[in-house]
Amino acid sequence: MQTRIDAKIGWIGTGRMGFVMAQRLARAGCDLTVWNRTRAKAEPLAQDGARIANSLADLGGCDVVFCMLATWDDVKLVMAGPGGLLSHDVRALRAVIESSSISLQGSAELRTILAARGIDLLAAPVSGNAKVVAAGKLSFVVSGPRAAYERARPLFERIGQSSTWVGEGELARTVKICHNVFLGVVAQSLAEVTVLAQKAGVPRHAFLGFLNQSVMGSMFTRYKTPAFVNLDFRVTFTPELLRKDMDLGLELSRRLDVPMPLAVISREQIQSLIGHGFAEQDFAALLALEARASGMELEPEDAQPDDGLS
Ligand SMILES: NC(=O)c1ccc[n+]([C@@H]2O[C@H](COP(=O)([O-])OP(=O)(O)OC[C@H]3O[C@@H](n4cnc5c(N)ncnc54)[C@H](OP(=O)(O)O)[C@@H]3O)[C@@H](O)[C@H]2O)c1
Repeated sequence: MQTRIDAKIGWIGTGRMGFVMAQRLARAGCDLTVWNRTRAKAEPLAQDGARIANSLADLGGCDVVFCMLATWDDVKLVMAGPGGLLSHDVRALRAVIESSSISLQGSAELRTILAARGIDLLAAPVSGNAKVVAAGKLSFVVSGPRAAYERARPLFERIGQSSTWVGEGELARTVKICHNVFLGVVAQSLAEVTVLAQKAGVPRHAFLGFLNQSVMGSMFTRYKTPAFVNLDFRVTFTPELLRKDMDLGLELSRRLDVPMPLAVISREQIQSLIGHGFAEQDFAALLALEARASGMELEPEDAQPDDGLS
């Protein structure tokens, strides 16, 4: 049986990820107030029972506030900038749950800023795109005070399928950065072998259909298969956000003297994707770039592969 949630919850950021994550809390019947810089993007959540804030001051009475923005600069501005959350009366606020993919340094700075106000920080980045969230399969990796994590656990359970507490401080950021470096490398490798198989005569749906059932198949290869087969590169995650994560990983690797040759090459390939005009498309367009480099013109295939999410 799930624990009852009485907390007043605030939510900052209803982009591609934040919207569906907040929606799952609202649909679970939580007391939720949502703020987004572009208010219109948050408004549909009113139909799910959420209150739509006019200003960050409306989140002042919340016990816990989630944050899902793009970069550390955005998080810092919204939390501690002029007119930011902390410039309002936040005496009720016990914890901030910060889920954007940001650097360890940014996260540590945020922890210090919040600690000065007696507020706990849970660093809680996530694995999965918006479709994964909607299917209830999002995974959180969490670090920060254990007691705050235990209190927040029922919230993570309402949003996703799992939360893993990995320790104190910013450890969850390290895990997320490593996870996304792996994502970049795997995405590039998947593009390469799919183009190789196709150039040798194997249709993409047949190749990926086998791969997904093999020991190399994963939730990621399965849910990216429709995009690869139908050449549907509508954004789930932009090349620029992925480049940011590759850069965070490489920065960490340099600091710790860890060679990451595959990550370096994949990072440059993502850079090329942006330069070739795919910045507004999904990072799965690495497939199109690889095909171009192989002298191939790809066509959508007439197939409806399973994405493994339904
Ligand atoms: N997409 C994925 O598959 C995925 C998966 C896991 C983790 N992530 C990470 O999750 C985070 C969010 O990703 P996303 O794909 O949801 O990004 P997104 O769609 O670009 O949404 C970004 C959100 O941040 C807000 N924002 C940006 N700059 C701001 C500023 N200066 N002040 C106030 N609000 C600002 C945007 O508000 P507006 O609506 O007003 O623009 C929007 O709500 C990123 O750190 C990303 O790396 C993404």
